[in-house]
Amino acid sequence: MKNLADHDSFVDGVPHATFAQMRRDVPVHWTPDHGGDRGFWSLTRYADIMAAQKDPGTFSSAQGIRIEDQSREEYLARRTFQETDPPEHTATRRIVNPAFAKPVMAGFEQLIRDLARDIVDEALAHAEFDGVEHIAKRLPMLMLGRILGVPDADLDWLVERGDALIGNTDPDFTTTVIDKVNTDAYAMMPFRSPAGVELYDYAQQILDGSRAVDDAGILARVLQAEGGAIHGQDFKNFFCLLVAAGNDTTRYSIAMALWLLTQQKDLLGQLQSGAVWDTCADEFIRVASPTLHFRRTATRDVEMHGQTIREGDKVLMWFVSGSRDETVFDDPNTAHLDRSPNRHVAFGQGGPHVCLGMWLAKLELKVVLQELASRISGLEATSAPTWTRSNFICGVKSLTLRPKLK
Ligand code: HEM
Repeated sequence: MKNLADHDSFVDGVPHATFAQMRRDVPVHWTPDHGGDRGFWSLTRYADIMAAQKDPGTFSSAQGIRIEDQSREEYLARRTFQETDPPEHTATRRIVNPAFAKPVMAGFEQLIRDLARDIVDEALAHAEFDGVEHIAKRLPMLMLGRILGVPDADLDWLVERGDALIGNTDPDFTTTVIDKVNTDAYAMMPFRSPAGVELYDYAQQILDGSRAVDDAGILARVLQAEGGAIHGQDFKNFFCLLVAAGNDTTRYSIAMALWLLTQQKDLLGQLQSGAVWDTCADEFIRVASPTLHFRRTATRDVEMHGQTIREGDKVLMWFVSGSRDETVFDDPNTAHLDRSPNRHVAFGQGGPHVCLGMWLAKLELKVVLQELASRISGLEATSAPTWTRSNFICGVKSLTLRPKLK
């Protein structure tokens, strides 16, 4: 079994065989102390992840949600509403939820389609291209700008910083690789990253009015929200959360869909038949599961499968494993685009923190695939994907594609 604490265990892609073995033999698995951090429990079965999700009183988000240990001071400096429990979490969620609701996102469909059409046209003008750079990265980035209400001119810069936060364990995304160099100087910054300093500065300029944002965007809306505006440090952390969460995960879902189209040759025809547009996005995202896990902390001793999880222990819910649990999903390692129901947990379903951006992500994926499928009759990968060095995010970093045009 691969060591889940080691980011190098993920450089050739997700170690699915290890997760399958854990689901079968050690459903509550202990990884001992490592690299200065305390050990952690891993939940890998669907049912156990759902049970933990439904019980935030026992499995709390309010002491950190990633593997790294944080002092109370670090936690307080960096926390967002994602690192809080109900009822505190519910209050902020109520402010931000309406802006991300399914009907609101549906209103963006034409804009997404216009952007996707241009992106696909540009990519297909090349005989061969990197599907991540030319397609997967572009749409989430442009939509993030529209959602936040920041100018297009800032997006490359913002996304590069977002990549450095999320990819803080990968030397392709940051020179401050968290398990290789001392990051104590950035302990109070999001993801212990120097990119956090720059994003804080950008957010500060929005706060003090020296940087304008679009009134229709979510940033302006939370600053002005009646009865509970988000301000100061909370605003800066909320901004960083959106730049990080609203970008890479959708990119990597699109990239995984492109890779799967090259591997399962029948998928393109299924898309073109028109029969699977309502179900395909969930299935691609189930297989991609770009957010591999989130962490909780036990608030009391709990018995699970003969193990005692002690109060204060870190517990990881491996969504990537739950979404491939063979007791819930037939043929879990293959994409079945008509899978329905599709009860995957790639968005952290089942608990109060279920992804805020899931309707946006699903719509972007569907629309970009519609635009691509309408123009090509085949798609070939001319290089294998390269994967992010991270036990937190499963990211396709590059994937060279050769399309066959209709
Ligand atoms: C395929 C794409 C995406 C995946 C797989 C994904 C995954 C997740 C997961 C697993 C969680 C649960 C976190 C937890 O349990 O602590 C989450 C929460 C969240 N996501 Fe996403 N996400 C995606 C896209 C997005 C987008 C596009 C946005 C914003 C534009 C976004 C914003 C958020 C926020 C703000 C939260 C925190 C919600 C809360 O704590 O109440 N996500 N996401």
